[in-house]
Amino acid sequence: MRPVRAPDLRAWKSDGKKIAVLTAYDASAAALVEKAGIDVILVGDSLGMVIQGRQTTLAVTIDDIAYHSKAVARAVQRPLVVADMPFLSYQTGVDDAVRNAGRLIQQGGAAAVKLEGGNPAICEVVARLVEIGIPVMGHLGLTPQSYHQFGGFRKQAKTPEDAETLLQQARALQTAGAFSLVLESIPFGVAAKVTGALEIPTIGIGAGPHCDGQVLVMHDILGLADYSPPFAKVYAPVGEQMINAFENYAAEVRSGKFPPDTES
Ligand code: KIV
Repeated sequence: MRPVRAPDLRAWKSDGKKIAVLTAYDASAAALVEKAGIDVILVGDSLGMVIQGRQTTLAVTIDDIAYHSKAVARAVQRPLVVADMPFLSYQTGVDDAVRNAGRLIQQGGAAAVKLEGGNPAICEVVARLVEIGIPVMGHLGLTPQSYHQFGGFRKQAKTPEDAETLLQQARALQTAGAFSLVLESIPFGVAAKVTGALEIPTIGIGAGPHCDGQVLVMHDILGLADYSPPFAKVYAPVGEQMINAFENYAAEVRSGKFPPDTES
């Protein structure tokens, strides 16, 4: 089974092959994701919310991502493992970005990194990482690390001016060498235009059906979180099934039904 590599995604776009991306944060879940045939696993800084129980992704550290990435990378052969660069691990300059991205590859076992934004300073970081051999996935639109700047998790690129800025930044990221681009929470018409304008694939989340691939957070599709964004679809009510299992277990412990003699 040949591993998916970053350059493959560009070829898949030209072949019209859609890309399935899902987050995972630990070895057991990553192994199941691989069995399901998912192409790309994102070790997202969303782990700050769904694993660490925080309100935003801002407190996630490079140590956190390296730890979870290592667990995921150890468990899978085929999917491309992309590790998210957390807040302040790349915005402080090219040297910091190189050191931190390098750690996610070297210690975290990732095959690519993702970072947010598309201004000239970020594009400079992307270009340098690509130059030293680290594939970079971009991320535009609702970039959660800008939570305070946006005043919350709000849909982006709603005005023609903002849509045009996003398109320019998408082009600049492609020029800097990004191999793919996440588009989060933007109008689907804008996502369609960006997708048509780029040679690299776009991966949508709350950005409509015209992107070259889609990404969702595992906890959202399994109904594990109290809150999930409106664009997420629950594919299996695993959260409810877990509560059932825990209730049955507790009831059997309390009634003495578990463990039976045969399991002692
Ligand atoms: O952190 C994350 O999981 C992400 C995806 C939602 C795109 O950035």
